[in-house]
Amino acid sequence: MKPVEIKNNIFWVGAIDWSERDFHNFLTRRGLTYNSYLVVDEKIALVDTVKHKFVGESLERIKNVVDPSQIDYIIVNHIEPDHSSGLPDIARAAKDAVIVCSQRAKDGLQKYYGDGWEIKTVKGGDELKLGNKTLAFIDMTMLHWPESMATYVKEDKVLLSNDAFGQHIASEERFDEDLGVEEALYWAKVYYANILMPLASLIRRKLDEIQKLGLEIEMIAPSHGVVWKNPSKIIEAYEKWANFESENKVVIVYDSMWNSTEKLAVAIAEGAGSEGADVRLYHVRKDSWADIATDVLDAKAIAVGSPTIHNGLFPPVAGFLTYLKGLKPQKKKALAFGSYGWNGNAVKEIQRIFEELKLETLDPLMVKFRPSEEELRKAFELGVELAK
Ligand code: FEO
Repeated sequence: MKPVEIKNNIFWVGAIDWSERDFHNFLTRRGLTYNSYLVVDEKIALVDTVKHKFVGESLERIKNVVDPSQIDYIIVNHIEPDHSSGLPDIARAAKDAVIVCSQRAKDGLQKYYGDGWEIKTVKGGDELKLGNKTLAFIDMTMLHWPESMATYVKEDKVLLSNDAFGQHIASEERFDEDLGVEEALYWAKVYYANILMPLASLIRRKLDEIQKLGLEIEMIAPSHGVVWKNPSKIIEAYEKWANFESENKVVIVYDSMWNSTEKLAVAIAEGAGSEGADVRLYHVRKDSWADIATDVLDAKAIAVGSPTIHNGLFPPVAGFLTYLKGLKPQKKKALAFGSYGWNGNAVKEIQRIFEELKLETLDPLMVKFRPSEEELRKAFELGVELAK
């Protein structure tokens, strides 16, 4: 359990969760990491802690650098339990440490773990001198929780960004270049799509704000995944994703009872493909919603299909649409389609959700029982229109 020095006396002392596959319903097919960083100077600060189950692993890494009892400060950038559930045990080991966090984080920590800690509250713009190194705190309200903040090590130009710029991937590699920058960007995209997509306007504002602050950032060390030695790559990607810049891609998502909605999905896919679009066809029960959301992020168009059952949506499609609605995709054309027997309420409900999301909709396609040749041709043409 070795620590990794990411920059002058700043050590990664986190933990690797190789086997976790579920992060609040987000399929983490390659596991994840909980990153914690030890900043060593005259005073010693531990920035963020790990999930409770991994405290032993993190403490072993810390002990390779300092005795945990020598830690002066524990900085809590974010209280979500994947980071804070290890805090009680870490605070017991770092028995004299003062916890440093935002006021909202203090309120949240007390609600989660009770009173009993010495807590110093800080706000964006405040600084904490450790010796030669200075920690500057950056307000990250609602990115992605109300109490979130980031910590910037001024002299080393390292941004300890917590969840922002993170990726859910377990790996032995600690840096983007070792994992492969393109691969790191891919996992950052999966993470962004499933956790940060709904916060696009806040992210755009925060990126502008950071630019105006004139922070020189040589390295971004998030609380999940690898450290960015190429911060410009991930910042550029965030700008693109937060602006919903799209690829020539059509994503079709469906479920089917007796293959009729599936036939429509395939015909739409063929139509879109005939125009040269990159087509992704997903089945809501066979494919991962995390993968679908990742493709939706930069798709130009989406189509969602459902059969009607009990006068409404097929339940798996309803679940997926609840997920999609929460992610608030923007700037896309959208098509609702499906087969029905007595009424087409499922398609009407998909259309209503698209309108609620303010997506640019095409006329929905509703087909009674089995699609005829003519109806399949119509589905093909709608695919062509989506791709165009
Ligand atoms: Fe990594 Fe929002 O917790």
